Amino acid sequence: MDLFAALESLIPAFQAGLDQAVSFPELEALRVDFLGRKGRLAQVMAHLPQTAPADRPRLGQSANEVKHRLTGLFEARKSALEAVMACAELARFDAGLPGRLPWRGSRHPCMLVMEEVCSVFSGLGYDIVSGREIELDYYNFEALNMPPDHPARDMQDTLYVAPGIVMRTHTSPMQVHAMLARRPPLAVIAPGKVYRRDSDLTHTPMFHQIEGLLVGANVSMADLRGTLTAFVRAVFGASTQVRFRPSFFPFTEPSAEVDISCFLCGGSGQEADGPCRVCKGTGWVEILGSGMVDPAVFTNVGYDPEVYTGFAFGMGIERIAMLKYGIGDLRMFFENDVRFLSQFA
Ligand code: DAH
Repeated sequence: MDLFAALESLIPAFQAGLDQAVSFPELEALRVDFLGRKGRLAQVMAHLPQTAPADRPRLGQSANEVKHRLTGLFEARKSALEAVMACAELARFDAGLPGRLPWRGSRHPCMLVMEEVCSVFSGLGYDIVSGREIELDYYNFEALNMPPDHPARDMQDTLYVAPGIVMRTHTSPMQVHAMLARRPPLAVIAPGKVYRRDSDLTHTPMFHQIEGLLVGANVSMADLRGTLTAFVRAVFGASTQVRFRPSFFPFTEPSAEVDISCFLCGGSGQEADGPCRVCKGTGWVEILGSGMVDPAVFTNVGYDPEVYTGFAFGMGIERIAMLKYGIGDLRMFFENDVRFLSQFA
C-alpha cells in the first residue's frame, strides 16, 4: 500500500465531502470521520510500523501537512457556512414589523389613592408634610393624650424598637410635629407608612394612612363636616352622602367616625341578587376617624385651648383603595403580582 498516495487522496475526498455539507452537524461528522482519533488519517498512519524505516520521517511530515490542509479546508468551509446562515437569518428578519415597546411599570393603588387624597386637600389649601416612621413614644402616644397607662393604647398593637421608641402606629404624631413647627392658622395633610404588631387576613404589619389637621380660631365641627364632605365627593362621586357616628379617640373631643353612603349600591344596601357585598346591606361604609382637637393636645404643644380650635382626621389608605377599586383581599397590595398591579394605570 502506498501510504503517500493514501494520504494525498484524503484531501480531494475531504473537499468533496465538505462541498456537500450544508449544516454544522454534517461538517462536524466529516471532521470526525477524517481527523478524529479513529478517523481516516489516523487509519492510514496506523500502517506506519509496516513501512521501511527510512520512509517514516517523510511519511510523518507528509501526514502533518495533510492534517494541516484538512484543518484549513474545514475552517474555510465552516466560515462560509456561517456567512450563509447569517444571511438566511437576516432574510427572515422583517424590518416592517412593529418594534417591541419597552415594558412600563404602573402606579401602586396605594400611591394612586394617596396622591388623589393629597391633591384634593392641597386644592383646599392644605400643606403636605411627612415625618419619621420611627417615633418617640412621646409623639406617638403621650402628646396625643395617651399617657403610659391609658387603655386606648390597647387599640394599637405596637412594635417597640427600644424602650420609649416605637414604629409609629398611626400618622397622628404628625399633628404634634406640625403644631410645634408652625403657628396657627395651619392646615396640613400627612401621608405615610404606619406599623402595628398585627398580621392576619385583614391586618398587615405595615399599612398607609393619611392624617389631616386644621387649627385656627373659631373652627367648628361644621367646618370638619363640610371639609370631609367635599373630600369624599371629590374621591367617591358628587352624590356621596356623609354620616358622622359618635366615637372616641384620646386626642379629639368630641370624636366621630365617618361613614359614606355605599358607592356600589348607592346607599340602598341592596344589589339585584341580595344584600350589597361592599356595605353588607347597611348602605354605609366606614372610611375614617375624626374629631375636634382635644384641649389637652393643644396644651401639650403650647397652644392656648381658649384661643384656638381645630379638627383632625385620619384614614387608612388600603381601606379606601379597596373600596374605590373593589379590591377584595388586603394581601394583594403587598404580593407584588404584576397581574394585579398592572391593572392600575
Ligand atoms: N389615629 C387614629 C388611628 O390610627 C385615626 C384617627 C382618628 C386620626 C381620629 C385622627 C382622628 O386624626 O381625629 O386609629
